[in-house]
Amino acid sequence: MPARSLLDVDDLSPAELVAVLDRAVAFREVLPPRDLLAGVPVLNLFFEASTRTATSFTLAEQRVGADVISFAPGASSLGKGETIADTALTLYGIGVRVIVVRHQQSGFARRLADAFEGHVINAGDGTHAHPTQALLDLMTLRQEFNRFDGLRVAIVGDILHSRVARSNIVGMRAMGIDVTLVGPPTLLPREFGAGGVRIERDFDAVLPHVDAVMMLRIQRERITGGLLASLDDYTLRYQLNRARLRSLGGSAMILHPGPYNRGVELTDDVLDDPRSRYVAQVHNGVFVRMAVLDLLVNGVPVAA
Ligand code: NCD
Repeated sequence: MPARSLLDVDDLSPAELVAVLDRAVAFREVLPPRDLLAGVPVLNLFFEASTRTATSFTLAEQRVGADVISFAPGASSLGKGETIADTALTLYGIGVRVIVVRHQQSGFARRLADAFEGHVINAGDGTHAHPTQALLDLMTLRQEFNRFDGLRVAIVGDILHSRVARSNIVGMRAMGIDVTLVGPPTLLPREFGAGGVRIERDFDAVLPHVDAVMMLRIQRERITGGLLASLDDYTLRYQLNRARLRSLGGSAMILHPGPYNRGVELTDDVLDDPRSRYVAQVHNGVFVRMAVLDLLVNGVPVAA
């Protein structure tokens, strides 16, 4: 049987997803001994820029006792024409057992997993998926509300280019969360409104009725042509700012996967607002990644 990988959130059953979150919470309360992955070689292979995710994975790997290898793939032989399959064979032969991969191409993590005999964790592939981000967002939501079922969450902004949004939609729907996507037609095409997900163009109409709002960055590096006609018009309609904070419920929470662009999707007021959970999100990320490593390599008992 091939080793288990995490390419998107739905590689976990709902029961496993909850088990991973429970495990992550337990790790947050008391750090486990550094031996869960003692001596397991884990390779961080980031082809695309990352601050949070790369740091968080590295710390998580160290906390479970893995042998952590990080290298700049810019200098790798993939650039010399070696195929993914040959690279995978080489890495496994050297002894690597887990690869954490980020790549600008959607589907890259799957292609690597198909060729690699060890475990692959997708740390973001193109616009496709970013499962550990969705898991840490779910962990942060549950920490606040103690439940998922019936929670109302709005994800706002550049949904089209967001692997974070895609993975969150999968995870949130699996947990019974009511998801509304908010954005202009260019950044939020109708096709996203499937599987019980609502599409809204009017942010102000949604804001008073949600338990959580997740603001997304405009991914300028992935935008080609005239998808965003006017940034002024965008901020007018979709920026979370002081005025809009007033219509958000007092016990609602604000999420952002980072990196945020102050003055675009949010203003300084948002980050200073007590409802903002950005720091809790990045904090939870380390424990979720420890739990994912543990699940893939050791298996996690799931209650029947
Ligand atoms: C995001 C990503 O890289 O997918 N950030 C993250 O991992 N927390 C979102 C983004 O780039 O806007």
